[in-house]
Amino acid sequence: MRFVVGIGVAALASSFSAPVVAEETIKVGVVVEMSGPFAPYGHQITYGMRAYMKAKGDKVAGKKIELIVKDTTGPAPDLARRLAQEMVMRDKVQFLAGFGLTPNAMAVASVATEAKVPMIVMNAATSAITTKSPNIERVSFTLPQVTAPIAEWAAKNKIKKVYTLVADYAPGLDAEATFKKVFTANGGEVVGALRVPLKNPEFAPFVQRIKDAKPEAVFIFTPAGETAVAFMKAFAERGLDKAGIKLIATGDVTDDDVIGAMGDAALGVITTHHYSAAHKSPENDAFKKAYADVAGPNTRPNFMAVGGWDGMHLIYEVANKLGGRIDAGKALAAAKGMTIQSPRGLIVIDPVTRDVVQDVYVRKVQKVDGKYFNVEFDKLAKVKDPGKS
Ligand code: DHB
Repeated sequence: MRFVVGIGVAALASSFSAPVVAEETIKVGVVVEMSGPFAPYGHQITYGMRAYMKAKGDKVAGKKIELIVKDTTGPAPDLARRLAQEMVMRDKVQFLAGFGLTPNAMAVASVATEAKVPMIVMNAATSAITTKSPNIERVSFTLPQVTAPIAEWAAKNKIKKVYTLVADYAPGLDAEATFKKVFTANGGEVVGALRVPLKNPEFAPFVQRIKDAKPEAVFIFTPAGETAVAFMKAFAERGLDKAGIKLIATGDVTDDDVIGAMGDAALGVITTHHYSAAHKSPENDAFKKAYADVAGPNTRPNFMAVGGWDGMHLIYEVANKLGGRIDAGKALAAAKGMTIQSPRGLIVIDPVTRDVVQDVYVRKVQKVDGKYFNVEFDKLAKVKDPGKS
């Protein structure tokens, strides 16, 4: 009899221990593009997150951090929303994170609000995203924040007539509007503006139209990746560079992930952005090493990987401040105004906009030790989104 009671107590103890174990985990629901043409976004972001966890340990405030990664397969707002809802309801995630593409981030904003879960945006860069839910914090950048500096740079460097070409969705429209506003305010003229489809644009006819208009430069925004490579190819094939037309852009175009595939066509292109793998700092050296530890030797992190790394850093800091007990309201209060030493330099979460205030660099594509890099040569300090400040 005693023996049986003994077993009963043991069984009881083990059945009680299950929920306790569950509580010892902080779950992060990651909504990212892991397949399809935008798959590099999800891989860069999650490698950046895992690199941080590997470098710093996967426990915070005594709790284990667990990532649950879900694939949106591309720009797929309905799917992104459903995946986020499932992770909130079924997996009880305490954070939502990831978001390479704007349409996916926009779609999940209402889930973050309703479920009272903090949502950490690690790339998606349309300015308005943070206004869609009070629970969003963004650790990446905004298109106006990185576009205004190239518009200013162009005007100051004797470029007077520019043709713009952008991807026809929210970040592209942000880039187009910001470029026009800042460039004209500085004495420049936008002589033509084209918008191309987000998916698989056929650039040759667009590029020919630009060549025929004979501007001094083209400003472009396309989302990082294979679209940018296709543009660069068309630009070189149609001989715009030989016709003396300069190319200026946000750093999305000469993204570290694909710059090698562009080859010499990218040489000399001037861009403005918040991160380059060539950025010189001890933090960036440590980051690149940690990234290669999880993504493999000879891999190179890009700005999305930095978003993943810094987003994890933010989650760790918040979890520490709250002693591991995550509550959306308290998490947001803890994150506002937070300063993070990022591989790109110091970043601050603006307490009003919940966007990042950061240095934006002016870079030129150059060959360093036989490889293509965005080499920084100037810096604008502590830049905010110009439409929000
Ligand atoms: C998005 C923004 C970018 O700057 C980029 O390179 C890719 C995607 C976006 O917000 O969708």
